[in-house]
Amino acid sequence: MALIAPSLLSADFLNLQRDSDMLNKSEADWFHLDVMDGRFVPNISFGLPVIAHIRKATQKVCDVHLMIEEPEKYAADFKAAGADILTIHIEACRHLHRNIQQIKQLGMKAGVAVNPHTPVHLLADIIADLDLVCLMSVNPGFGGQKFIPHTLHKIQQLKAMITEKNAQTLIEIDGGVTLENAPSIIQAGADVLVAGNTVFKSADPVATIAALKAL
Ligand code: DX5
Ligand code: ZN
Repeated sequence: MALIAPSLLSADFLNLQRDSDMLNKSEADWFHLDVMDGRFVPNISFGLPVIAHIRKATQKVCDVHLMIEEPEKYAADFKAAGADILTIHIEACRHLHRNIQQIKQLGMKAGVAVNPHTPVHLLADIIADLDLVCLMSVNPGFGGQKFIPHTLHKIQQLKAMITEKNAQTLIEIDGGVTLENAPSIIQAGADVLVAGNTVFKSADPVATIAALKAL
């Protein structure tokens, strides 16, 4: 049974209280919060004030995915806003080890996200320090894109690395997750499924979350 992390990016921004209440009533485990800076990715989403308000509205774990350059400049601010998990991109960090230690010292769980083109073997010397690896199964920046099938191979490779290093790292899959492809993603070894459009654009989001949870 995977953890389910609906993504705020696909929620109704005029009704965030309503959508947070829906999530509280559902079997969702985490609330996935996508921060984009218009530099690391070609889109701008939302930032600290929105997350601080979501923190007050949600009972779920706040899983913050930073798609921003120089994430180390803002780690303390995201902790103050209420992040439980802070995930930064390997492609945005020159000193990833230092940045991961910083996140942990601030009292958050630390995650690293990898873009579709980034091989998972680059994580070999940091994996034991990570609470989470977020494998991007689309190019980051937008919701509602199509799942890249090669991700299944990367999940298997990453799972083997985690097992070999005797690490406790969770594997999160982000982008294009549907009720149709989720079984093969779980089968490959994923622990956490992010779902934006699949949840928020469905007729009954609570039932869709339950269906994902039951896989
Ligand atoms: C994409 C974001 C995702 C996005 C997923 O850059 O990181 O978290 O919200 O949305 P769906 O599930 O619609 O692909
Ligand atoms: Zn994300």
